[in-house]
Amino acid sequence: MNILLTGGAGFIGSNLAKQLLEEGHRVICLDNLDGYYDPDIKWRNVQQSLNELNYHFHEGDIRDAELIDMLFRLYSIDAVVHLAARAGVRPSVQDPALYYDVNVTGTLTVLQAMQRWNVKKMVFASSSSVYGDSPNVPFAETDTADRPLSPYAASKRAAELLCHTFHHLYGFDIFCLRFFTVYGPQQRPEMAISQFTDSILKGRPINVFGDGSTARDYTYVEDIVSGIIQSLDNLKGYEVLNIGGSDPISLANLIKLIEQSIGEQARINRLPMQAGDVQQTYADITKASQLIGYQPAIQIEEGVRRFVEWYRSQLDVCLATH
Ligand SMILES: NC(=O)c1ccc[n+]([C@@H]2O[C@H](COP(=O)([O-])OP(=O)(O)OC[C@H]3O[C@@H](n4cnc5c(N)ncnc54)[C@H](O)[C@@H]3O)[C@@H](O)[C@H]2O)c1
Repeated sequence: MNILLTGGAGFIGSNLAKQLLEEGHRVICLDNLDGYYDPDIKWRNVQQSLNELNYHFHEGDIRDAELIDMLFRLYSIDAVVHLAARAGVRPSVQDPALYYDVNVTGTLTVLQAMQRWNVKKMVFASSSSVYGDSPNVPFAETDTADRPLSPYAASKRAAELLCHTFHHLYGFDIFCLRFFTVYGPQQRPEMAISQFTDSILKGRPINVFGDGSTARDYTYVEDIVSGIIQSLDNLKGYEVLNIGGSDPISLANLIKLIEQSIGEQARINRLPMQAGDVQQTYADITKASQLIGYQPAIQIEEGVRRFVEWYRSQLDVCLATH
């Protein structure tokens, strides 16, 4: 398949691109390398794929309709995997308009280009944050998800709804995948596991928000990549699917796992809970399992061990090149 991959230079996108190329697909990556975190990291993410014949990188913005038209004209696109977004719950509280613009207007721009070029298949990256602080755990796709707690969560829910409209009006096949906190190699540097690992390895204290009882359903990036590819293989109609590890862990226990993998104890700088944060996330993955055969393979203990190993190797590379 020829796949337009938006946000392909990011954490999940670069892991996905690698796997799609290995499976023989052609990947057309569109990413504006925005400054949410260091664009050099994104350049490094795409290095592994740049030499591949089937990989085409275009730096640009999903809100640029002419550019997207140009990509549809140049390549015979079969499907779109739409990952490009302003990610991150907490910063969205500071700049809701930007999150709305990129995540909602940007998604609409991609959908309209697909309509113009008669490309009708999309996998869209949504988020577990759409469930808000729902007391119904584990979270199931049948929940209303109409109480988002942050502009980020609201923007993802709004984009899911737009996807449904394009399915209804024009017969698009769209799966909206609600990812549950993703971690693994190339993870965004501001995310908790990256931050904790970096600080502990460098002997610095870690900032912990709340008393450590908040729980997250962490999902290893390889499992997310499998969920996306299984969705592409089974894309029919409009579906919302949870893609999570389905095995939540408290923040306090997560820190213990990182400490064990590193072999050092963390010094904790305790801070109040942050606006927009939820108490827990927990994916019911029954639907994804039945519809696309999704099953997470990497448990958190193994995933954290692999992440720390990868992070250490990156630090070694940095030390060797400076
Ligand atoms: N990582 C997670 O835990 C998680 C959880 C739920 C949902 N998601 C969603 O998965 C997707 C990928 O997340 P990630 O963690 O890889 O984030 P990321 O920030 O590493 O990747 C997003 C990419 O999109 C690009 N981008 C941003 N705005 C753009 C624009 N206007 N035009 C073109 N490209 C643009 C960025 O440069 C970046 O490379 C996002 O949609 C995110 O909301 C991620």
